[in-house]
Amino acid sequence: IPSFAVGSKSFTAVAINIASKAGEWIQSKLGDFNKLQTKYSSHDLVTEVDKGAETMIRNLIQTHFPHHVVLGEEGVAPGPDASKRALEQLRDAEYLWIVDPLDGTTNFVHGFPFFSISLALAHKGEVIVGVVYNPVHNELYVAEKGKGAYLKGKRMQVSSEAKLIDSLVATGFPADRAGALPVNMRGVQALAPKVRNLRVAGSAALHMAYVAAGRLSGFWEIGLNSWDMAAGALLISESGGKVTDTEGKPYSLHVRDVLATNGHIHDEIQQELSTASATGI
Ligand code: IPD
Ligand code: CA
Ligand code: CA
Ligand code: CA
Repeated sequence: IPSFAVGSKSFTAVAINIASKAGEWIQSKLGDFNKLQTKYSSHDLVTEVDKGAETMIRNLIQTHFPHHVVLGEEGVAPGPDASKRALEQLRDAEYLWIVDPLDGTTNFVHGFPFFSISLALAHKGEVIVGVVYNPVHNELYVAEKGKGAYLKGKRMQVSSEAKLIDSLVATGFPADRAGALPVNMRGVQALAPKVRNLRVAGSAALHMAYVAAGRLSGFWEIGLNSWDMAAGALLISESGGKVTDTEGKPYSLHVRDVLATNGHIHDEIQQELSTASATGI
């Protein structure tokens, strides 16, 4: 299929290769890095490893595909609308790579082994390849638009739970502690008593990969950026799940809030989140 390759060079094979290389390097730096800085707020961390991994990924993409454009988290000015502004500027790019070189920086900094590399390739605004790699478990999640999603060579399938009480659901605490966090806390308050349990493990991309793999029944978070979700959203839709924003509108690269589930519990969670944010439970 022409959209997935240039000549004989498969986009997916290159993405897998790059994610593996970056992952190996990031893992070698676990517990061995310096220069911890904060970005937009004191909760928003960045290290030399985030920046180094992004440079490595950019260089590798440019070597393979000199005409492709790269949007990477560490290449844009931080702020609530960082991704939106960048996407506007890059809207004419035919092939756009959306890169989170290290998703789960806070975990990385603390040595909590749950972080990932997230690479997505969009063709004319539509994501056609998504790769998320967890170097600690050596787990590589791969999806191609229309061709399914795979983990260790096996096709992934979302979980089958149809009731909240049977569901393991994850969320994340937004870096915007003043505005988004209180809204999310209402969602947590509403859902915690209704689901089997909640998890907040600190990597949006990996949470989404876990939904695709059927390890989580659902995930929601508010205040994310395109690079946190682009690969994960394709993994989930190619595994039979559903991805929208928290109001139930279709997922796109421009959404900031995400609700990603096995499909069966989607509407119920969406209702709970809407009610919670409207009524301020
Ligand atoms: C963060 C992680 C975290 C989520 C934050 C993201 P980063 O990405 O995905 O789980 O709660 O909202 O910003 O900064 O570690 O790449
Ligand atoms: Ca970050
Ligand atoms: Ca991220
Ligand atoms: Ca990051």
